[in-house]
Amino acid sequence: MKVALIGFGNIGKGVEELIFKNHKKINELTNRDISVKTVLINNKGKKRDPFNKNIVFTDDFNLILDDEEIETIIEITATEDEAFYYIKDAFNSGKNVITANKAVVAKYFEELLYLSKKYKVKFLYEASVGGGVHIIKSILEDLPFNNIKSISGILNGTCNFILSEMTKNNTEFVNSLKKAQELGFAEPDPTSDITGIDTLRKLRILSSIIFSKKVSLDKIFLFGIDKINASDIKILKDEGYKLKLLGEGKRQEDKFYSYVMPVAIREDSVFYNIDGATNIISYCGDNIKDVSFVGEGAGRYPTSDSILRDLLDIANENAIEVYAHDNKELVLSNEDIKSRFYLRIPKDFYDFDDKFIDKKFETRENIHLFTEKIYLSKILDLFSKVDRQDYFLAKIE
Ligand SMILES: NC(=O)c1ccc[n+]([C@@H]2O[C@H](COP(=O)([O-])OP(=O)(O)OC[C@H]3O[C@@H](n4cnc5c(N)ncnc54)[C@H](OP(=O)(O)O)[C@@H]3O)[C@@H](O)[C@H]2O)c1
Repeated sequence: MKVALIGFGNIGKGVEELIFKNHKKINELTNRDISVKTVLINNKGKKRDPFNKNIVFTDDFNLILDDEEIETIIEITATEDEAFYYIKDAFNSGKNVITANKAVVAKYFEELLYLSKKYKVKFLYEASVGGGVHIIKSILEDLPFNNIKSISGILNGTCNFILSEMTKNNTEFVNSLKKAQELGFAEPDPTSDITGIDTLRKLRILSSIIFSKKVSLDKIFLFGIDKINASDIKILKDEGYKLKLLGEGKRQEDKFYSYVMPVAIREDSVFYNIDGATNIISYCGDNIKDVSFVGEGAGRYPTSDSILRDLLDIANENAIEVYAHDNKELVLSNEDIKSRFYLRIPKDFYDFDDKFIDKKFETRENIHLFTEKIYLSKILDLFSKVDRQDYFLAKIE
């Protein structure tokens, strides 16, 4: 089987290397001679140094679409709409597609599932969530026999690294972010990580799979860690909590919830000792009960490894598809999330009914609260008067 790549960046190079170096093993496992034939890139002038010197680099997608030898295309650009059109055209030309691109999967999941079925090709996207944590296949295997009632995870290594640093060294957010960038755990532009958008995209994919319905990106509640400061971490730590940015999807009776927000957890939580850039994803099914997957959520080789597994599944005709996915949008009840919360509010805006307060602390400019159980919607009402820059919230587990 000949394969084409779209993109030859960090992940593209890793995929090419692994396919080349594992050629014999892949052959034994699939009974097929698999190699990369063509790579589509953006900038034809850039010097490329693939392991397989026969690879053709092109900026003409038709060279791939018209090549009947190419059965599978691996899409690993960091684009969104462009990636969608590449994948759509690939399906239309009868090619299977593997992608690691969470942005395109999150935005177009249902369309992509529909089109792959329409054109009777395979569409796999294991690496779009959790890098080397092989979570999607596991869920798809569990789903037919399990009502999965919840999924929860630390889905972004950058945020987890920053929060771990702040907790361990009592550092400010900006210093911890800078360290993450110096060590290569954060991009030069970390916006999508720290605002929670990266976690949101992954949760959108996972929630849609476990609930077998469309869970729209803009319906998921989102609160990132970009407005956190050292006082939040310190006060939570003094009360015995660690803070993690979690993506969670839950089904309780006939209500569904899906949210990304900082969650304060205690030592008994399975997430407590997951520090640094490590990811964890846990879900709970009625037969299997609680299962957790821990590992490298990003990086060249973990991500390329996931792509390689997808490739093997396609070659062996083992690809598992989503189970009975309904394209209709799932109605979420996030306004009904009822929990204890940690809040930081500027003193000038403090206007909170004392009956909801469990503990209260003051720093120079802010009031810090631990609430009793209260609806998230009530807190958001309170915050509607405050500039987004100036407050912080975390759910307390
Ligand atoms: N990095 C990770 O750890 C990781 C983990 C999980 C998932 N992913 C996902 O994997 C994908 C690739 O990530 P990456 O880190 O490898 O990105 P990257 O290093 O920025 O590489 C992107 C590649 O895509 C090519 N490209 C960009 N626009 C293109 C276009 N319109 N047509 C054709 N090729 C185009 C670029 O071409 P040029 O070389 O010509 O510039 C480059 O080779 C992303 O969607 C990312 O979310 C990454």
